[in-house]
Amino acid sequence: MDIIADHFERPIERNIAMELVRVTEAAALGAARFLGRGDKNLVDQAAVTAMRYTLGYVRMDGIVVIGEGEKDHAPMLYIGEHIGDGSELKVDIAVDPVDGTRLVARGLPGAIAVVALSARGTMHFPRQFYYMKKIATGPEAKDRIDINASVEENLNNIADAKKKRISEVTVVVLDRPRHDELLEEIRRVGARIKLITDGDVAACIEAALPDREVDVLMGIGGTPEGVLSAAAIRCIGGGIQAKAWPRDDSERKSCLAAGVDVDRIYKTEDLISSDDVFFAATGVSSGELLKGVRYFGGGAFTESIEMRGRSGTVRWIDSRHNFEKLDKLSFFEIH
Ligand code: FBP
Repeated sequence: MDIIADHFERPIERNIAMELVRVTEAAALGAARFLGRGDKNLVDQAAVTAMRYTLGYVRMDGIVVIGEGEKDHAPMLYIGEHIGDGSELKVDIAVDPVDGTRLVARGLPGAIAVVALSARGTMHFPRQFYYMKKIATGPEAKDRIDINASVEENLNNIADAKKKRISEVTVVVLDRPRHDELLEEIRRVGARIKLITDGDVAACIEAALPDREVDVLMGIGGTPEGVLSAAAIRCIGGGIQAKAWPRDDSERKSCLAAGVDVDRIYKTEDLISSDDVFFAATGVSSGELLKGVRYFGGGAFTESIEMRGRSGTVRWIDSRHNFEKLDKLSFFEIH
C-alpha cells in the first residue's frame, strides 16, 4: 500500500508509453515475417523474443503481471519476471506480444503487438479464470453500461448517450458459437453487428475511441486481454466492465476455492487502479485500428498507438525502420 500511496503523491512524470512504442514495434517486426505461414508458434516466439530484448532497455524496475504464463512454462516474459534496466521506477507490466497470433499465422487482418504498464501494485489480473464476459465503450456512454443489465437496456442507453438511433449503434463481437444467443439478442433489438475472428484488445480500443465504426464491444474473451484493454480504456477515458466466465464446473470450483467471487463486477478502476498507466500497440497485420508492417527494400514501415492515463493523450506514430542500420546497432536481429 505504501508504494501505491507514494505514487499518488509523486506521479510518473515521464511518458514511458513513448518508449514502449519501440518495444511493440520490435515485436511487430519480429512477428510480421511469418504472416500467412500457418505457424502460430513461430509468430509468437519471434514477437516474444523481440519484446523481451527491447523491454530490457526500458528505464524501470518492472514486474510481469500478465505474460506468457507461469515460469515453468515460459522461458521469457513469465509472470513474476523482473524486466527493465533496473532503474528505480517500480511498475507492473502486461504484455501480449501478439494479440491475434492465429490472424498472423493465417494471413488475416487485425493482429497487434501490445504492452501496458502501470505503477507497481495497480494492475489487477484475476488469473483464476481464463475468460471474462466484457462490455466496453467510450467516454460518452461509459456511465450508461451495466454488465448485469440486458443487452436491450445497454444498447438503448448507449444509443441515447451517443444521440444515435438504435439501428446506428454497432456492436463488435468475437465470432464464436458461445455468442449465438448474444447475436440473436442484438439483432432482435435492431443494432448493427461487426464480427471479428480474433483480437478483442484492438476491438475494445476501437469501441472506446470517438467517431469509430463501432460503439461497444460485447461478449466473452480472454481475461489477460480484458486487463490490457482496461489499461487502454483508462487512458482514453472510456469504460469497461467484466465478470468471470468460468468454462466449466471445475473452473468455477477452483475459483471458489481460491476465494474468487465469480459474480464480482470488475470495472476499469478495479483492473487498473492508477492514472499512472501507459499503453502502446503496433499493427502486425493491417486492421481497422492500425496498419500492419509494410516492407520496402532494406526496411519497413510500422504504425503504432500510444497513450498515457494521466494526460489522456493518444498518439499515432508512423515509423520507418532501416534494417541495415538496426543490424549494426543491435546484437539482436529485431526484424
Ligand atoms: P491469442 O492471440 O492469444 O490467440 O488471442 C486472440 C484472442 O482472439 C483474444 O483477442 C481474445 O480475447 C481471445 O483470443 C478469445 O479466446 P478464444 O479464441 O479462446 O475464444
